Amino acid sequence: MIMYASKILSVGCYVPDNVVTNNDLAKMMDTSDAWIIERTGIHERRHIKPGDGNSTSAMGVKAAQNALENAKMDANEIDMIVFATLSPTLYFPGGGVDVQEALMKRTIPALDVRNQCSGFIYGLSVADQFIKTGMYKNVLVIGSENHSGGLDMTTRGRGVSVIFGDGAGAVVLSRAEEGEISRILSTHLHSQGEHKRELVLEGPSTQFWVPEIIDKNPQEDIPYYPHMNGQFVFKHAIQRFSEVINEGLEANNLKVEDINLLIPHQANLRISQFVQRKFRLSDEQVFNNIQKYGNTTAASIPIALAEAWEEGKLKRGDLLVLASFGSGFTWGSAIIRW
Ligand code: ACO
Repeated sequence: MIMYASKILSVGCYVPDNVVTNNDLAKMMDTSDAWIIERTGIHERRHIKPGDGNSTSAMGVKAAQNALENAKMDANEIDMIVFATLSPTLYFPGGGVDVQEALMKRTIPALDVRNQCSGFIYGLSVADQFIKTGMYKNVLVIGSENHSGGLDMTTRGRGVSVIFGDGAGAVVLSRAEEGEISRILSTHLHSQGEHKRELVLEGPSTQFWVPEIIDKNPQEDIPYYPHMNGQFVFKHAIQRFSEVINEGLEANNLKVEDINLLIPHQANLRISQFVQRKFRLSDEQVFNNIQKYGNTTAASIPIALAEAWEEGKLKRGDLLVLASFGSGFTWGSAIIRW
């Protein structure tokens, strides 16, 4: 059986224009620029403005268009869409079909991935398998999030709401030519459902339908806002990031010294810095942009990847490592020869 390899042909991203600074948040809740920068590294994030035409799907479409332009590829050459988000425009169907409707003439498959901060790496891994088997040649992988509308913007929600931002990123994953150096070397995925309630949004869901939330829950019981046990998540994040990066390097007989660029999911700058110190990587070897966008969950890695590429930080043949950790818990890594 012939096995192919996939490569990232192009990257793209889109973020809303509306910049929300830490000082803007401090007007809505008891927080401060100093606290947010010290604990998270975040200076500002983007929020959709009501009426600006943006939604999770619309931003995903714009990021996809950007990736297609960078690939100089017509949308109709795409064989499959993989769309990762925890904040879909509609409860169902997922955002993949919106991308199909907006960009494609053909009725290609659209698969929705729900793995929160690990959504992009899960999506990339799925796309990689379809290309490896020869079933598809070009797969669009998108991560997009609209967090801002669903956050508790009062002091009660400050431990969560200061962290998250809106935006979208995308890649075109294509079959590598024979003998080509650029390729995804491997992907590594994990989950541990026992910790799902440490970072969770309970409703609306089949356990908390909207009438039930409104009628039966006391005001202080708020399953319709995200809940995060920050310190618990933080401790698990730094452990799992390290493990899954090592797992990827070992699977390919590579060493930490071989890494040209690590793009960690942008969860918290302190988590990225911990991982950087642990692996003794230089500032040039780790890319962060959480300062500008906050945590954009499934969109954070493809947005960072698009910016790193635009800034010329990736050369052909470089070893690129992507790693993520988030709600589920789910985590993963991708080892890529650029
Ligand atoms: N402004 C001011 N004070 C605050 C804020 C805020 N925005 N938020 C919390 N505080 C207060 C708390 O109430 C607490 O006060 P107390 O000491 O009087 O009780 C104090 O600051 C310390 O709170 P901690 O929660 O201990 O702060 P910590 O240093 O842990 O930082 C944070 C919180 C930023 C959430 C951190 O724990 C974190 O980043 N965790 C991991 C996040 C993550 O990786 N998520 C995974 C990906 S997301 C996904 O998958 C959807």
